[in-house]
Parts: sequence; C-alpha cells; structure tokens
Amino acid sequence: MEIRHLLEALYSRYSYDFRHYTPASMKRRVGQAAQALGLQSVPHLEDVLVKSPDRFLEALQYLTIPVSEMFRDATYFISLRERVFPVLQTYPSLKVWIAGCSTGEETYSLAIMLHEAGLLERSTLYATDINPTSLASAARGIFKIVSMRKFTENYQKAGGKRSLSDYYSSDKDLAILDSSLRRNVTFADHSLATDAVFGETQFISCRNVLIYFDRELQDRAIGLFRDSLSRRGFLGLGSKETVEFSKHAHHFAPLVKADRIFQRTS
Ligand SMILES: C[S@@+](CC[C@H](N)C(=O)[O-])C[C@H]1O[C@@H](n2cnc3c(N)ncnc32)[C@H](O)[C@@H]1O
Repeated sequence: MEIRHLLEALYSRYSYDFRHYTPASMKRRVGQAAQALGLQSVPHLEDVLVKSPDRFLEALQYLTIPVSEMFRDATYFISLRERVFPVLQTYPSLKVWIAGCSTGEETYSLAIMLHEAGLLERSTLYATDINPTSLASAARGIFKIVSMRKFTENYQKAGGKRSLSDYYSSDKDLAILDSSLRRNVTFADHSLATDAVFGETQFISCRNVLIYFDRELQDRAIGLFRDSLSRRGFLGLGSKETVEFSKHAHHFAPLVKADRIFQRTS
C-alpha cells in the first residue's frame, strides 16, 4: 500500500511511471533506494523524493536496474549474425532501436557486430532509456578495464572476428571505446511506459527490460515494438522474455526461439 502510494506520487511529480512494474522487484528496489538514501520508511522516502529532484535522481539508480554486460548471451549475437544480419544486408539503410540500453554495453556490442558485418556505416542506432545517469554514461563509452576481461570472453564466444581490444584504448583502470562506434548512435530519453512509437525501424533489441514489467506494461511495450517495426522487421528480447503471451503475439513469429528473436509478420 505504501509502495503504491509512493509510485503514484512519483508519477504525478516526475511523470516517471513505475506503477506497472512487477510488485516483487519494485518492493526490493524501493527497499534498496531507502537504504541507500539513509531513510527508514517508505513514507519518509516518498516525502524526500517528492521534495528533491536531486534525491530522486539518486534513487533512480536503485529503482531502475543499471546492470549490463557486453555480448551478454553469446548465442543471441551469433543468431543475429547468422539469421538477422543477412536479411538486413539487403537494405540500403537501417534503423536500429536499442530500448532500455542502460549504460551502453548492449549498444556498443551491437555496433561492433554491425561493423563486422559491414552494416554499421549504413545504420542509424537509437539507444534509449529512462535513467539519465545511465544514458550519460552510455554516451561516454567508458567502462572499467576490469570488466573488459569478461566482455572479451563474451565477445569471443559470440564469434567476434577480431580482438575486442581493437575497439578500445586503455587509460589506467579505464577502457575508452572507439568513438567511431557511436558515430551513428543517438542516445535519448524514452520510456516504454509513457512515450509513443518510434519511426520505422528494421531491428529492435530490448533485452532484460520486459522482465521487470507486469503483463499490462509488457503489452504496451510490445505494441510499441510492433508499431515501430517495418514489415518483416526483427525484435530481439532477453533470454527470459517473450512476446508469446502478449495480446500482440499474433503479429510476430519466432525466428530463433531459443535466442528470443522474433519477426514481425503483420
Ligand atoms: C537490466 S537493464 C538492461 C540493460 C541492457 N538492455 C542489457 O540487457 O544488458 C534494464 C534497463 O531498462 C531500463 N528501463 C526500465 N524501465 C524502462 C522504461 N519504462 N523504458 C525504457 N527503459 C526502461 C532501466 O533504466 C535499465 O537501464
């Protein structure tokens, strides 16, 4: 009840709509936000967040889950290269939407894969999220060097053609990704809960975002994807996500079921 009240208050104060996220994960995250901000109760948290946009921005780090990895789930990227990119090769220009891009790892992974398939130069990528701190970090393209070991392992498993280190330079404990990777990328604020459709895109990658939404919000997001995809366009989801139980399911067919890659059919 207190959490519902908090989510309503955040919606009317900031238009951030967390009201249709799964209750269990929201409860966990509200608890983490309260703890991180040193507040004892949900009503106290609500009071502070409603009064202070700065504190709200801080809390967003807990309310959203800014966790990501480059080349997470190697087989997803292998399936893109083998089943999706050959079709995309036939288009003279491409629009790609990475929804819920977090701090950019998925976007840079896709940029590298598109580059290696000779597609990046003809692509425009839109990478969107609701967390402005994550978006700013994504636009910088700087990761901790310690993370690169795991990312390199993932890249190799994903069938990367070169060495991942070809795409970044090191500076002490940081890895600075090559700026050419984001030449065609626009990082922008967009909420799957409150914003409208994108222009026509040929490929949408939205991974590990729907998992936090209830059925109603998943339907909204999948409806946006359907309306933003060109006919026969592709939708890639996270390993625990699907369009199958959505009211829009009949507009999609599975292309690579195991890797949650779907194609718009109508
Ligand atoms: C766990 S991360 C996934 C990051 C990346 N897609 C990946 O798979 O590595 C979930 C992301 O979804 C974003 N998100 C949450 N609600 C959203 C919404 N309504 N619209 C767009 N993005 C949202 C969060 O801010 C967070 O960055």
